[in-house]
Amino acid sequence: MQHATATGQIDSAADATLLVDEDTHRWIPGSRTIRFGGDYNPEQWPRETWDEDIRLMREAGVNLVSIGIFSWALLEPREGVYDFSFLDDIIDLLWKAGIDVDLATPTASPPAWFYRKYPHARAVTREGIPLAFGSRGIVSPSSPEYRKASRAIASRLAARYASHPAVVLWHVHNEYGTPVSESYDDASVIAFREWLRQRYTDLEGLNDAWGTAFWGQRYGEWDEIDAPRATAVVTNPAQRLDFARFSSEALLECYRNERDAIREHSTQPITTNFMAITCPSVDLWAWADEVDIIANDHYLIGEQADNHIHLSRSADLCRSLAHGKPWILMEHSTSAVNWQPRNIAKRPGEMRRNTLAHVARGADATLFFQIRAGRKGAEKFHSALIPQAGEDSRKWREAVRLGGDVAALSPLLGSRAHARVAIAWDWASFWAQDLDFRPSADLDHRERIEAFYAALWRRGITVDFVHPAADLGTYDVLFAPASYLLDDDAAENIRSFVAAGGHFAASFFSGIVSTSDDVPYGAYPGQLRDVLGLVVEEFLPLREGERVALQDGAHGRVWSDDITLRGAVTVTSYNEGPAAGGPAITRNSFGDGTAWYVSTALDGDDLDGFVVGVLGAAGLPYSPVSDIETVTRFGEDRTFVVQINHGDVPGGAGVEGVDLLTGERVGSSELLAVGEVRVVEVSSSSSDARS
Ligand code: GAL
Repeated sequence: MQHATATGQIDSAADATLLVDEDTHRWIPGSRTIRFGGDYNPEQWPRETWDEDIRLMREAGVNLVSIGIFSWALLEPREGVYDFSFLDDIIDLLWKAGIDVDLATPTASPPAWFYRKYPHARAVTREGIPLAFGSRGIVSPSSPEYRKASRAIASRLAARYASHPAVVLWHVHNEYGTPVSESYDDASVIAFREWLRQRYTDLEGLNDAWGTAFWGQRYGEWDEIDAPRATAVVTNPAQRLDFARFSSEALLECYRNERDAIREHSTQPITTNFMAITCPSVDLWAWADEVDIIANDHYLIGEQADNHIHLSRSADLCRSLAHGKPWILMEHSTSAVNWQPRNIAKRPGEMRRNTLAHVARGADATLFFQIRAGRKGAEKFHSALIPQAGEDSRKWREAVRLGGDVAALSPLLGSRAHARVAIAWDWASFWAQDLDFRPSADLDHRERIEAFYAALWRRGITVDFVHPAADLGTYDVLFAPASYLLDDDAAENIRSFVAAGGHFAASFFSGIVSTSDDVPYGAYPGQLRDVLGLVVEEFLPLREGERVALQDGAHGRVWSDDITLRGAVTVTSYNEGPAAGGPAITRNSFGDGTAWYVSTALDGDDLDGFVVGVLGAAGLPYSPVSDIETVTRFGEDRTFVVQINHGDVPGGAGVEGVDLLTGERVGSSELLAVGEVRVVEVSSSSSDARS
């Protein structure tokens, strides 16, 4: 049966029920509602403060805290000498207060003794600078000493606390890939060479993949190969791309090393907190299968006017990494952060909208960094659940209210949002596209993804992100904004998707190179020529700031192509610019499906027009342009519509049922006030009525 959601979007309830799959996916044991809490760093505080913290946590409804994240120096004050008294105390206190523990391994911040004893374990920058102690996260991921020491402390912690009833989750390390994602130290170079041997078997394969015949870079011995350090002019792009792959895998090895040590002692779920949207250096498709639960950190860029859309994008990416299953928002901020040029405080209601927006998109746990605002050190101006101003403050009252809201949402546990539209997302494509010597400095893969995502968001479309080589079978439409690198499997996958009736829309600079940043033989885009039904004889990038008019009244920026049609039809053409008279947007029938190509950067209404054209052709309904976020979560036999008003007029009519946040009935003509949120359990009769 088909149901219209509040936005008029049609979702298939039958399909969605199937998404609540039979397998026993892992979730935080003992969860009776959406989890609420944060990073808790009590080692900053005298013992008396802990009692106060726990009292306040209980008042706010906190039921999960992450502890020990940066406690290595305290837990192992000298190599091999352990002191767990602090953790023993705080875990017991939390347990007695009914607050569960997400126990971290402290390996993002090795102690001073470690660096003094193993100075060569420090990370080295591309320019050859070894990073100094006095911060955090500065170790080489390939250092054997680091691997040994981190495994040892992880193992000790697991052995000691595996059977403690408070410990319901393990949190390995902190945000792999930030602040250090790659290192040029000796151990990394040795490990890189070994990684290359595994990948290419012989030097012939490596020389061919890297195109070393060009600029005389041929290697005759494995030992001649180095990490891609700073060079006189642009470094071999395939070498850099492989080093990015190697570095992501080296970090993943660090994670596995600790995870496996914990697993020897504990059966509780193990995870690590991603920075899915903001950390470009780890290929999280590979990581997603290695964690028991997807966990993510997300911080708004305060000055971005539409940062709520960026938040949704992050949340949708996490749900996609979780294959639709529930995920943990491990960190976000109650208000301002401290690391942006201007740290904008959240206005009243904004924290609530932010938290509940993550919930709308599948987070069944929402935690903050951190529980109590620090007084010393680098992050003392960062907001926290317990603010510097203490209990008698607006922020604290908002925190307590939010804790109550989250507790009221227990019926949502395990229900799933469902998307029929996907955007291609491949970390390797980011790595490749961001290298040097590209046809235009204005090419920006991320900007195009954000633009397409925002256009879909404003039309009320819930989006999944998907690796282009992954199963596309559940989607009606796949957008590929500037998907520069498509390997042969991905290209073949897209071909099959379209041939089977899918709708595919690529923007310029997509399908240009394959695995090793190599251009396939023939005209561009070698990986997509047939499916798009065209060839690009030459890229025609625009000048800085140049805008070109299209025949349909739209305007393009950044790019145009010299296109020759090979089966596709012109949707609109260029009126001016280097491609004047030629096709700007095309459409091609391929098998049972349709493939669109947009050869320039469209913005605002122009991009909206393109996106809506693709959705319409695919038969997918969409709402009028709106600042009201509407996401439907489907349970086994219950449906919830989350609505958040980010705009400046009331709206969002068309939802009928009971608002779980107030317990009151919502009529279908009832508008949602500006800045408000409602989570409506849609009565089955009303969803039937809209079918
Ligand atoms: C996160 C980090 C936290 C804290 C926070 C501040 O990236 O995991 O430890 O530093 O940023 O916003």
